[in-house]
Amino acid sequence: MSVPILTIDGPSGAGKGTVATRIASIKGWHFLDSGALYRITAHAALRDGIALDNEAAVSALAATLPVSFDVDPGTGEVRVVLAGEDIGDAIRSEEAGNAASKVAAIPGVRAALLQRQRDFHRAPGLVADGRDMGTVVFPDADTKVFLTASAEERAKRRYKQLSDKGISANLRALADEIAERDARDSQRAVSPLKPADDALTIDSSDLEIDEVVRKVLSLMSATL
Ligand code: DC
Repeated sequence: MSVPILTIDGPSGAGKGTVATRIASIKGWHFLDSGALYRITAHAALRDGIALDNEAAVSALAATLPVSFDVDPGTGEVRVVLAGEDIGDAIRSEEAGNAASKVAAIPGVRAALLQRQRDFHRAPGLVADGRDMGTVVFPDADTKVFLTASAEERAKRRYKQLSDKGISANLRALADEIAERDARDSQRAVSPLKPADDALTIDSSDLEIDEVVRKVLSLMSATL
């Protein structure tokens, strides 16, 4: 029997990461955070003094990224380690997300990261979170979800997340950044953000996370 895949694509702040990790843990499946790979690439480029629009140099870097995802056997938490350095916190900032969105538009970067993403497909199953999981990276996935929410709601959620961490933020500026990132991710020539033809679109604007998780699990039981 083939190893099942659930893809969850959608714009930033729609709740993909939370839903994907919940389902991976419920099912005991692997989890691919594809956005992390673009964030790590941008972080590594900035660390090495490479301009984010230097397509050849950033693509070469993506092809040889010395990154590992180390699972802490005690807590189960994943540490993102780049050349021996834990960069988990550094890649989670708004700046890192915007930088990731820029390098993600480079065709050579996407090509360099393709196989690395497909290598996450291992038994007993995979939950893949990103922008092009169902369209490009895993077009034959068993279950495909496009998770979205209004830009206003996504900005509010991000604002709350940052405030909860004690980080000050400006709601208007966050909304503008989200709109800019949506536009760049949706309008790029390669692998733009869009629902796969066979994806179920779920709008999470008025839903609790538990409800979204339930909907996705019931879709999986219908498709697997
Ligand atoms: O999901 P995220 O916020 O960590 O993603 C950061 C950026 O990476 C996002 O703005 C666009 C890019 N990305 C992508 O182009 N393709 C993916 N599969 C995942 C992320």
